[in-house]
Amino acid sequence: MVSRVIPVDPFDLVIFGATGDLATRKILPGLYRRDWAGQIPEQAQIIGAARSPLDDASWRDMVRAAIEENVTPDKRDPAAIARFLDRLGYVPIDARGTGGWEDLAARLVPGRVHAHYFSVGPGLFGDLAQRLHAHGMNDATCRIVVEKPFGHDRASAQALNATLAAHFDEHQIYRIDHYLGKETVQNLMAIRFGNMLFEPLWNAQYVDHIQITVAETVGVAGRGGYYDKSGAMRDMVQNHMMQLLCLIAMEPPYAFEPDAVRDEKLKVIRALDPVRPGDIVRGQYDAANGHASYLEDVESANSLTESFIALKAHVSSWRWKGTPFYLRTGKRLRTRTSEIAITFKDPPHSIFGEQEGQRSNMLVIRLQPNEGIKLKVTIKEPGPGGMRLVEVPLDMSFAEALGPEAEDIPDAYERLIMDVIRGNQTLFMRGDEVEAAWAWTDPVIAAWEARGDRPHPYDPGSSGPEDALMLMHRDGRRWREVKP
Ligand code: BG6
Repeated sequence: MVSRVIPVDPFDLVIFGATGDLATRKILPGLYRRDWAGQIPEQAQIIGAARSPLDDASWRDMVRAAIEENVTPDKRDPAAIARFLDRLGYVPIDARGTGGWEDLAARLVPGRVHAHYFSVGPGLFGDLAQRLHAHGMNDATCRIVVEKPFGHDRASAQALNATLAAHFDEHQIYRIDHYLGKETVQNLMAIRFGNMLFEPLWNAQYVDHIQITVAETVGVAGRGGYYDKSGAMRDMVQNHMMQLLCLIAMEPPYAFEPDAVRDEKLKVIRALDPVRPGDIVRGQYDAANGHASYLEDVESANSLTESFIALKAHVSSWRWKGTPFYLRTGKRLRTRTSEIAITFKDPPHSIFGEQEGQRSNMLVIRLQPNEGIKLKVTIKEPGPGGMRLVEVPLDMSFAEALGPEAEDIPDAYERLIMDVIRGNQTLFMRGDEVEAAWAWTDPVIAAWEARGDRPHPYDPGSSGPEDALMLMHRDGRRWREVKP
């Protein structure tokens, strides 16, 4: 495979919240890797802005440490690190006051793309937008990048959209969902719309059901304050899993262009039926094997927040009516695995009679780790003994098929930041999409809050609560085992 790094024009990127966790763990190491790969032009500048009274030199030291900690040794080249640090500047800024804003404006080079990454709590988004405007920085070349959580419910997302819209046009606002930057998530579209093989079968007539799993081994220790107010529904389902569902369920957009893709995703969200209370299972991890329980992690004796969720969703459209989408995600599960499994219906008639080995075809798209696709097909078991059927996988790991460079793909943040610089919004959420997603999750959350439901306990290292299995069993189906 040939590596194609497309250089971008010189730009100024401002990172608000420059000393925070996301900036030092993901954004800056990601930018360094793009620089190492030769994608960042010489004149580009990266300006850190935060409350701490640092200067350029002390922020560079901090970023050097972040690179040492978060970049693999094979990419830690002293000359590349020195070149990257040279691009960095720092402006102490008062997000809610006046300090630092003039200084920041003076550092921006006129005529270039100016991207402002709001790597701060959502409470500051409005302040930053208003001050960029007030100091004349929201010109035609200006873009803002907004992190999740984008609101807490529909009303707060609407308010946030209105605040940002007061200072910026929609084409300047990049709402990040880092799942859209994952290579295999983009591959979902390539697989669907770049092949003739799958699309004719991609509907309720041929697909029995779809499973989307995002399993994590980590708990919530360290971010309990945020997580306990969110839970798995707000933290993972409303955004990441909803985006995966959209990409699987949407109609072919007329082009791989921002509004064409986002229009189709929006139609899917609007076509989602309300989730029935009996179609949802919430879980909370217990203590075991030396790990603290969820309640210990969030330091609350009686939290009702879920760290696991499984639900059945229906998309009421011509394409999908009758094909359920089963979603599950959770913390402290057996393994870190994200995958989408599409189970096709059985052939209408088996000419082989009742056969043990005959199974439904299944297409499994593995998002992480070990990205790849697997298609399970039925063949004849080799050898004598009559026509005995057996299921075999056509298994393709992208790393094996495409060589070592497939392992060297930019991570989600790297890809998305470069898209901001290029001005490509295809992999970013539009304001109406986010609001529609909340409109679907809000009543579900309101219903369990009104009932005061206690999530089902589950053991760390398991596949979640037993009741989640029942969600599938009662439909005569079962979850795929989450394997390491
Ligand atoms: C974040 C959530 O958006 O995504 C986290 O807030 C979660 O709770 C993370 O752990 C998962 O992302 P990834 O890329 O590790 O699958």
